[in-house]
Amino acid sequence: MKHAIVTRCNFADDKLFMRYFIPMRKFFIPSICAQSNKDFTLYITTNQQIPKHAEMIKKEFIKNNSKVNVVCNQSSYKEIILAEGYNIQTRHDCDDYMENNYVQSIHESYLKHIEKYKKFLLFAQPTKVDMHTGEEYMGRIYTDRSPSMFLSLCQETPEIWLMTEQHDKFYSIVKKSFELPKNLVKLIVHGYNAATTIQKNNTKIGRNLMVLAEKYNTDKKLPNSILPKNGIKGHGYVEYYQKILKNRNIRDMLEIGVSFGSSLKMWDDYFDKKCNITGIDINENRFKKSELESDTIKIKIGDQSDPSFLRSLRDKKYDFILDDGSHVHEHHIISFNELFCTLNAGGVYAIEDLHVALNTIKVFKAIQARSMEFNNKINPDVISMIDKIEFYSNDKLCIIYKNTT
Ligand SMILES: C[S@@+](CC[C@H](N)C(=O)[O-])C[C@H]1O[C@@H](n2cnc3c(N)ncnc32)[C@H](O)[C@@H]1O
Repeated sequence: MKHAIVTRCNFADDKLFMRYFIPMRKFFIPSICAQSNKDFTLYITTNQQIPKHAEMIKKEFIKNNSKVNVVCNQSSYKEIILAEGYNIQTRHDCDDYMENNYVQSIHESYLKHIEKYKKFLLFAQPTKVDMHTGEEYMGRIYTDRSPSMFLSLCQETPEIWLMTEQHDKFYSIVKKSFELPKNLVKLIVHGYNAATTIQKNNTKIGRNLMVLAEKYNTDKKLPNSILPKNGIKGHGYVEYYQKILKNRNIRDMLEIGVSFGSSLKMWDDYFDKKCNITGIDINENRFKKSELESDTIKIKIGDQSDPSFLRSLRDKKYDFILDDGSHVHEHHIISFNELFCTLNAGGVYAIEDLHVALNTIKVFKAIQARSMEFNNKINPDVISMIDKIEFYSNDKLCIIYKNTT
């Protein structure tokens, strides 16, 4: 299978380029890099009169430790794509965001349909995300007559060119069209998009954590920062939280580790001020408790390695508990033993930054594998409440789900 992804980043001047380069750096490039274990070549058109645009793009791929096969030095790749005989062409705009399984979904659909149809179209109907507020909307983006955007053309010989043709031309030459599963692609609305705005009839479907993490500047954000002066490194956890928390009714949450209060503000915004958030921290120096607290945010000062303090938090039940405190293994264990029982049935417990607490990974992997090697650190009655355990972000993030009954 040969798959060409083509993206236009061809702008007349630096000002226009930067308007698109900001979301490209933040969303498009990391989301493409996350799919680099899949077989495709990415062609990015740039303005040949301004070679630094291509250079800036290439640098971003290097920053992302990219293994993607990127070609980025021409204003058109039409001839190359046609000559190379790709089976799949995909077109995107450089301000789009693709979910991790996007390329895989295209390849699976290709394999599923190719025997029967030879030529077919795949659609991915995107959601729209406002890059400034984080609000996410559903709403049809393209019509039969608009240029192709989130559309893959799978065929034996690519005789038409996705970058310039209209949808109705595709329909006239292919046998069949299929829609990919929903929510595989997000269209980032940044205010300068040529044709895309959020319209009155678009339905709001919630808020997008990736954007809110950037807005409030927590280190849970995606790895690349849009804010140039901002040195905080992003761990990228929000991408996983977005999926894990979707469709869950989180009414009470507890976060260990307040620091400057960035994540508390992010959660408060994400849950639309409808969740009671308790933050705990051993150190009151980085935030002003009175300024951070509100109707929905409360802060308690204490040590996550102190069982009697942790027991004082059991006056209520939580739907979501997040340990982003000391990152010390022994503290993870004490907190988990004391707090997991306070989760509501089906609740979620997250522990972040396990790359600095490798023993915590060992303990939860042992429980996951039902091995007795390390799990004696967790009380047996607490283990019996665990439904399942998942690891994300190269084991830096562990998610433990409580039984639903
Ligand atoms: C990584 S920061 C939290 C960042 C915050 N959650 C965010 O995303 O914006 C870790 C915080 O944990 C606090 N901390 C360290 N040791 C602790 C302990 N033993 N108990 C409670 N909090 C602790 C630190 O004071 C620090 O503010």
